[in-house]
Amino acid sequence: MSLKKLYTSLKGKKKIVMLTAYDAQIARILSNTNLDMILVGDTLGVVFQGYKTTHGVTMADMLYHTKVVVRGAGSKPVIGDMPINSYATEQEALHNAALFLEAGVKGIKIEGNKPHIIGALSNEGIEVMGHVGLLPQTAQSYRVQGKSEDDAKRTLDDALELAGTDIFALVLECIPEALAKKITESVTIPTIGIGAGSYCDGQVLVINDMLGMDEEYMPKFVKHYAELTQIISAAVNKFTEDVRTGLFPDSSHTYH
Ligand code: KIV
Repeated sequence: MSLKKLYTSLKGKKKIVMLTAYDAQIARILSNTNLDMILVGDTLGVVFQGYKTTHGVTMADMLYHTKVVVRGAGSKPVIGDMPINSYATEQEALHNAALFLEAGVKGIKIEGNKPHIIGALSNEGIEVMGHVGLLPQTAQSYRVQGKSEDDAKRTLDDALELAGTDIFALVLECIPEALAKKITESVTIPTIGIGAGSYCDGQVLVINDMLGMDEEYMPKFVKHYAELTQIISAAVNKFTEDVRTGLFPDSSHTYH
């Protein structure tokens, strides 16, 4: 079944859940959970590579991480995030989307209102997820979008134009809840929110954020479902102490 058919059938019935993943172990864990799909986001530039933005992420980076995620993801659909400078023209988009498909994704995501690019991809049977609101690849600063009347109208118009293409879902990033509600109620494809409130048809978070891997990065829309920084630090300190006091390795962890 196509992603479009699958996820459109869930709209209004069951919330769609997506998380990012960047490596095979996390993908394997996600493959045994109830979430719907895995996004290999270009946020890997920030959470994995340690850059401040996603601007430096390349196709080579994305393909490397996509291949390792697909290896762990089992039957969960994996979506590849087209990085900056990989879909400026239809030809470039088709070439790079084909590389993502070869790497094993079921669909790709592109940022912004680019109906001609999406049309070219859809004509080749490539399933595309749209993305409006805050667009990290081109944003000058990371702040809530669509707050002024003009900006809200622009975001709504972009969403409606994208919904008129063949996209299978639309990410709404960092926009006021009322605007996200209006968009969600105006389109037949599902919306997937991140910082867009509770009326979206689904939610996505960056996995490192929701697992509490960075205690300094805590925007309003992130909820920690675990405190991995604390868990990892405590485990490492305990290991250090055990090694220094001779408690590790003990007989049970030693070959005889
Ligand atoms: O790159 C990414 O992880 C994303 C999500 C935050 C939607 O685009």
